[in-house]
Amino acid sequence: MCGIVGYIGGRQAQTILLNCLGRLEYRGYDSCGIAVAAEHTTVFKDAVRVKALAQTLPKLEGKTGIGHTRWATHGEPSMINAHPHCDCTGRIAVAHNGVINNSQKLKQQLVSEGHLFVSETDSEVIPHLIEKYYEDSLPKAVEAALHEIEGSYAIVVLMEGERELVVARKDSPLIIGIGDRENFIASDVPAILDYTSRVMYLEEGDVAVVTGDEVKVRGNGVEVAREEHKVPWTVKDAQRGGYEHFMLKEIHEQPKVVRDTLSEYISIAQPAADMTVVGGSGMEDILMLACGTSYHAALVGKYIIEQLVKIPVRVEIASEFSYSGRASARNKAIVISQSGETADVLKAIKQLKNEDCHVIAVTNVVGSTVSRIADQVVYTRAGPEISVAATKSFVAQLIALYWLTLPYSRVDIRQLDEMVLGLRQLPGKIQQVFDNEEAIKSLAAEFARFNNAFFVGRGINYPIALEGALKLKEISYIHAEGYSAGELKHGPFALLGPETPVVAVVARDNTYEAMLANIKEVKARKSPVLALVEDDDDEVSGLADWIIPVPGVDALFSPVVNVVVLQLLAYYTAKQRGCPIDFPRNLAKSVTVE
Ligand code: M6R
Repeated sequence: MCGIVGYIGGRQAQTILLNCLGRLEYRGYDSCGIAVAAEHTTVFKDAVRVKALAQTLPKLEGKTGIGHTRWATHGEPSMINAHPHCDCTGRIAVAHNGVINNSQKLKQQLVSEGHLFVSETDSEVIPHLIEKYYEDSLPKAVEAALHEIEGSYAIVVLMEGERELVVARKDSPLIIGIGDRENFIASDVPAILDYTSRVMYLEEGDVAVVTGDEVKVRGNGVEVAREEHKVPWTVKDAQRGGYEHFMLKEIHEQPKVVRDTLSEYISIAQPAADMTVVGGSGMEDILMLACGTSYHAALVGKYIIEQLVKIPVRVEIASEFSYSGRASARNKAIVISQSGETADVLKAIKQLKNEDCHVIAVTNVVGSTVSRIADQVVYTRAGPEISVAATKSFVAQLIALYWLTLPYSRVDIRQLDEMVLGLRQLPGKIQQVFDNEEAIKSLAAEFARFNNAFFVGRGINYPIALEGALKLKEISYIHAEGYSAGELKHGPFALLGPETPVVAVVARDNTYEAMLANIKEVKARKSPVLALVEDDDDEVSGLADWIIPVPGVDALFSPVVNVVVLQLLAYYTAKQRGCPIDFPRNLAKSVTVE
């Protein structure tokens, strides 16, 4: 949440900062601002999107600058609360991500010492603390200020007259992009891909001084070396590529994502070596943790592992884990996070590690915090996911879970071969869903008039009902709830009727007959039914008001094709309702606060 950028080098900073901020807007978009320093520090900010800010800006001279795009935590979105924030003199400017837990106490102290605050944010204490401790060195003043701060932060600091940026991070991501006699700061890799693919990841507690020519990092008060990495993504990966929205582009990338993720795993000599967590000898159970869409992937994972490996899987929402208990009996866990930066997931991993738990992370972002603190990492190869609504990362997570599980499945070699073949056929099957896209679009036009909807499924498609409902609500603002089909009659039936459609995800497996019965019950309560059924299904088709045919696949893989249909349904429904699909209200891409 919130995006940070910084530039220092030989070029004018303004254009570069605005471009980087535009690429980072998915992290938060309720307000934004930049500060450029030459002889003086100049700050421009407002409660508008980056494009609008760019249109109002005068030309700012300066080859050092910082920028921020905000997702409000302390104080409403407004010009005053937008970053960068300054000290009393206006010479020091700071962009901050994270939450300062002791900001009230620090503010009271600083006010009593004569500092004047203008915003409602916690972040504003940082420039004032730096001002307080500044004698003759900005890095020293920043380090002294950070000593006082409790909470999480990624910061970039500039001061007029200084040809350096000071950056620091704790519990919030920050990277340095290395250029040719110029350097970049960002909270996320896609921000800087136009300029460089060489990055340095800062570790917890690092403070770095960045000039155009060098980066000096201090960790625990001593100079440390941080390796440079090459990012595996290109600028093209992070662009819309002719699509109207990132979400649609990313939905359409899914056949490629499945292929890339599979070929990555197949090309690793012993892909199963890392995965003893799923089926290692004596394994009694598995714990899986995640949030949001990744949590739904974990729920699908539960069905995959329990069906194939026959060991119990416990899936928990990461934000609930600290209240609910302990790691699994054998102290091994799979943690799933697309961004690798979700605060609740990071907190859960820390707790797991305190319990000596061995943590395997499934993540999409190389170098993310999750990837660095987990014991083992399995990367999905979805490429950068910019749309706030997760789509391709979910499908990539499912592929990772199939792949982790297959080597340990209690099936014979022939069945195993069939499953591998089934996995390899998935890109073609997803393509078949796209062949039906116009029909889904027309249906969405009708669906868009409803204000409430239920999504139901059973077995391995129950989590897909949850995911379908989440997709619809987050981008179309239709109130949607996902339920296991059998649960509807235990309460939600009270809400059924002609104005409340039910989307039924029907698979040809041992849930089919029960789903059929549930659909009849729903129809008896006069709710319109939209059913996802295999191409050649007659029975459900005879009952439902609308049908979306899906290509036939092994029921184990049906979540992959079904979810693509529901992603398209959500997308076109939101489009019909005129919603800002890539920037849904109140949301941001990665949730780096608890
Ligand atoms: O980056 P993560 O996978 O840890 O993110 C978890 C959730 O915030 C995320 O899946 C969220 O629910 C989706 N953006 C919804 O589409």
